[in-house]
Amino acid sequence: MQLQKTQDMVDSFEKIPVSIHAGLKQGAAAVAQEIASLIRSKQAKNENCVLGLATGSTPKSLYAELVRLHKQEGLSFKNVITFNLDEYYPIEPDALQSYNRFMHVNLFDHIDIDPKNIHIPNGEIPKEKIKAHCIQYEELIDQAGGIDLQILGIGNNGHIGFNEPGSSIFSKTRLVTLDNSTRIANSYEFATFSQVPRLAITMGISTIMKARRIILMAWGPAKAPVVQKAVEGHVDEQIPASLLQQHNDVSFVLDETSAAELTRYKYPWLTGEMDWTPALVRKAVVNMALKANKPILSLTNNDYRDHGLSELLVEEGDAYEINLKVYYMMRDTITGWPGGKPNANLPNHPERSEPYPKRCVIFSPHPDDDIISMGGTFQRLHDQGHDVHVAYQTSGNIAVTDEFVTRFMDFAVGFEEMFGIDSSKSNEILSQARAYLKNKKSNEIDTADIRAIKGLIRRCEAKATCRYVGLSDNNYHFQNLPFYETGTIEKKPMGEEDVLVTMELLRKLQPQQIYCAGDLADPHGTHKVCLEIVFEAMRRLKEANEPWVKDCWMWLYKGAWQEWDIAEIEMAVPMSPDQVMKKRHGIFIHQSQKDMVPFQGSDSREFWQRAEDRNSNTANLYAQLGLTKYAAMEAFVRWHY
Ligand code: F6R
Repeated sequence: MQLQKTQDMVDSFEKIPVSIHAGLKQGAAAVAQEIASLIRSKQAKNENCVLGLATGSTPKSLYAELVRLHKQEGLSFKNVITFNLDEYYPIEPDALQSYNRFMHVNLFDHIDIDPKNIHIPNGEIPKEKIKAHCIQYEELIDQAGGIDLQILGIGNNGHIGFNEPGSSIFSKTRLVTLDNSTRIANSYEFATFSQVPRLAITMGISTIMKARRIILMAWGPAKAPVVQKAVEGHVDEQIPASLLQQHNDVSFVLDETSAAELTRYKYPWLTGEMDWTPALVRKAVVNMALKANKPILSLTNNDYRDHGLSELLVEEGDAYEINLKVYYMMRDTITGWPGGKPNANLPNHPERSEPYPKRCVIFSPHPDDDIISMGGTFQRLHDQGHDVHVAYQTSGNIAVTDEFVTRFMDFAVGFEEMFGIDSSKSNEILSQARAYLKNKKSNEIDTADIRAIKGLIRRCEAKATCRYVGLSDNNYHFQNLPFYETGTIEKKPMGEEDVLVTMELLRKLQPQQIYCAGDLADPHGTHKVCLEIVFEAMRRLKEANEPWVKDCWMWLYKGAWQEWDIAEIEMAVPMSPDQVMKKRHGIFIHQSQKDMVPFQGSDSREFWQRAEDRNSNTANLYAQLGLTKYAAMEAFVRWHY
């Protein structure tokens, strides 16, 4: 695991040793093993082990594994001294978003570390004492003998700790202002953007660089571009993680998705001999066409050579032949018949013609993902006579504002009063909710009543959308999966109940087509857990030899945040301008999600805008490649389970 700078690196584009794992669990397990052996080897020598620790979504899986090693394999942390990288400022230590609380909840409360060995910058210290506090923090690290192993995550802007772009390699522990992009990225933890602190105390880059060994972990596709820059780019203070290239014992531990932009994956033909599968040929040619800004059919032998693909020419013949092959592959992904075209024999069509009609289940993690991410396809499936069902996996209740829920309660009271219905109960609920919300702190969870009403609001919006598409009332199903019901951004992992509820629905419906939000590597997301639940349910149903399972195809759409890589798409469903408008209005039905949505994350566009930008972008890419130009396209990848 501990890669040193080797001959391999000299021959590659990578300037930092990386180890790439199938998923974040495997990556985290490997890092946990390294930490465990370090702790044990220090124990054997009667020495302390000094760890530098990070927070955020990235190290959660690592801490979970360390807790497991402690509980199940007796790993003791008695000789461990920790120094955390950073803390928001100002923040109370028990605030929901404080890193102090994070560390206790995720690690310290579950292991046998001596509390006096834990060090976290103090987010409550008076401003005039911060300088002294930071100097003391550095001294404490020195007194402990320096950091043996520093764990890092990486921000989308390349920050390490809260050393934002522009931080000097000589920087020490200090108070810093957070980049706007960092505040936006971390806003998912706070109810509103304005609540995200503007300041933080962070170890400096020089503090980090003094660690004897450094491991930076990164998971998920959102980190892929910055990982590529840090690993393959120049040393640049604008990408603070690239400064790690100057450390002599650093590794990046990645999963396959965060490594995806490295040249070895993105343009593997530039890094050595290739085994040219059709998928790789497609990827290489599509990439080249987009880079050269030429339609596929206009690429020449010279283009192939200029883009490092002469080896492909040698293996597959002339550019014209390869172009045609890839052009047809792309063409065959386009269909206006997502449920298959009835009575037609189309061997290269993405879906089967038979059976017709199909029973389709759209799994929608939140109550609006169906319409946002595949509204056009949803409508087509219904219009083309398929029996379309939607399974709303979670209640989505945390994403409704307090103002919105009060407005609806007020409506309920008014409604009852208008029709002479006894409104004393609803009045009581309204005044209790008002009183609670008035004094609600940012670390407080809504009452069960308020959460339930927020869920109801979203359920009504989802029902209205289904009716707008034309579905009957029997065709939507609210699963309210328990893993989601924590009342906070932090969700539980997939549980048995989640799987059983999903198996039951699938058994009842016995679909021939399933659509799921395929956010395979969304590190802190509800979508990923929702997907795991469907995978697990299908795995068990397959194992139980349910006969319908072998004829059920699963298609993955991407959630609101991204789109599939153009070279991966296996089904692209075009939309006319009218269909785009119809979808837009379907998204508008989700009024609670318009404008100021809590926990919206780093993209300030509204959901309908994201959906339209992304669907027209896909259509434009197809057009750029020389295929027909549509107004918009929704994209899917087939999952073989
Ligand atoms: C956290 C820290 C930050 C995070 C980085 C990535 O202690 O110092 O540098 O590691 O912002 O955050 P996540 O892991 O949430 O993507």
